[in-house]
Amino acid sequence: MNAQTIFSIGGMAICGLLVIQLTAFAGRSVQGLLHARKQFRLSQELLRARITAAKRSLVFSDLSTAAWDGFRKFRVKWKTLEANGCHSFYLVPHDGKPLPPYRPGQFLTLSIKAKANERPLVRCYSLSDSPRQDYYRISVKKAVSQDPAVPDGRVSSFLNDHVKEGDILDVKAPSGSFYLDTDSESPVVFLAGGIGVTPVLSMLNYLVETQPNRRAYFFMGARNSTECPFGKHLRQVAAEHDNVVLHTRLSAPKPGDQWDSQGRVDVALLKSVLPTLRLQYYMCGPPAFLDSLTNDLIAAGVPKQMIHSEAFGAASVKKKPKPSTPAPDDENSIVVQFARSGRIITWDPRFETLLELAEANGITIDSGCRAGNCGTCVTAIKSGSVNHEAEVDADEGSCLPCVATPDGHVILDA
Ligand SMILES: Cc1cc2nc3c(=O)[nH]c(=O)nc-3n(C[C@H](O)[C@H](O)[C@H](O)COP(=O)(O)OP(=O)(O)OC[C@H]3O[C@@H](n4cnc5c(N)ncnc54)[C@H](O)[C@@H]3O)c2cc1C
Ligand code: FES
Repeated sequence: MNAQTIFSIGGMAICGLLVIQLTAFAGRSVQGLLHARKQFRLSQELLRARITAAKRSLVFSDLSTAAWDGFRKFRVKWKTLEANGCHSFYLVPHDGKPLPPYRPGQFLTLSIKAKANERPLVRCYSLSDSPRQDYYRISVKKAVSQDPAVPDGRVSSFLNDHVKEGDILDVKAPSGSFYLDTDSESPVVFLAGGIGVTPVLSMLNYLVETQPNRRAYFFMGARNSTECPFGKHLRQVAAEHDNVVLHTRLSAPKPGDQWDSQGRVDVALLKSVLPTLRLQYYMCGPPAFLDSLTNDLIAAGVPKQMIHSEAFGAASVKKKPKPSTPAPDDENSIVVQFARSGRIITWDPRFETLLELAEANGITIDSGCRAGNCGTCVTAIKSGSVNHEAEVDADEGSCLPCVATPDGHVILDA
């Protein structure tokens, strides 16, 4: 073996060693790179989870103590058109102090003096955006009467037609028991009829911001796109979030409308879109919409406790006055005395509540939500007792006539 051969073999050996070292180094680098990428992904997920948790605790921390008593002044920061005769109002506290959080689905109670010489009118409006720290948003549809003999809704007309940016409104703290179960991650179905979209939109916005893995099916029913508030926003949310399925159904679409199917939102539609009917439902819309969907879902085997709903009852539509029945001889009859009005009326079980009985007999009791939530109708009981339809937040010795029936003879301070 000559010197040149030895030199070549040595050179090849050194090159081989170098290649082995370089390969090992490259392998380690690739491994390191992959590891770093995985770590980065994990830390991103962790960060996201921490932000979500922080957002949630920010939203729901100290819910009860953060609210205020009675009415507080709010300024209309922005007023925007959402659909035909429907505006959103972005409200900020006039005192500049922090804005308490609320649960997605809850509502505000407003006291509105639409005419100088009239008493203020109390109405409830759902918060239509996810809880935030900078404003509350409500969205109000003008209640337009189809009958020329019947006036349009007073508060909704006043808000839509007269209230402008910079105006001050009297607002009660968020309340209501119709809200999304935010501790659950199970799939959820939102059903909205017309302006009933507001509370479920708040729930959907919250869900996409803080529960990106929770599946949501959103069904929106309206007459046509001009009557469909937030249609564009809903389509954008569905396009941007894989966990959201949106179905819009219009009953009378106009040329150029964007919609998925025609007709009314019903169980047949739900069956065609949902993987199963056994899901949690949150629905809001006109009473007929809620009644038919609830009955049909129950008939299809969905347990009642999986169906959560809220109706936007017309605040001032009173039951037709009936002549009050004269005090009966029947000893089983229940007598309701309205002390301030000096009226004694026999309870008629065809009325659903004491508020209806009072209104039908011309006795004025202020009301807002008519669902036992806002406290506007609270009335002292001078003697006797009442049954409340559900658990309510009324002091001992008082009742909420909008959800109460007499439990024997009763005297109310009304
Ligand atoms: C919890 C809750 C949340 C709500 N959230 C929203 C919301 O987010 N957005 C929203 O737009 N609404 C919402 N509402 C409904 C809202 O509170 C009001 O009921 C609605 O705005 C109508 O009030 P109004 O003062 O305009 O109408 P009112 O003056 O109370 O009249 C109600 C209706 O009765 C008709 N009417 C008036 N006088 C008569 C008469 N003599 N005979 C027959 N009919 C008559 C009117 O034309 C009108 O259609 C909600 C209600 C509740 C309970
Ligand atoms: S009207 Fe709201 S509690 Fe009775």
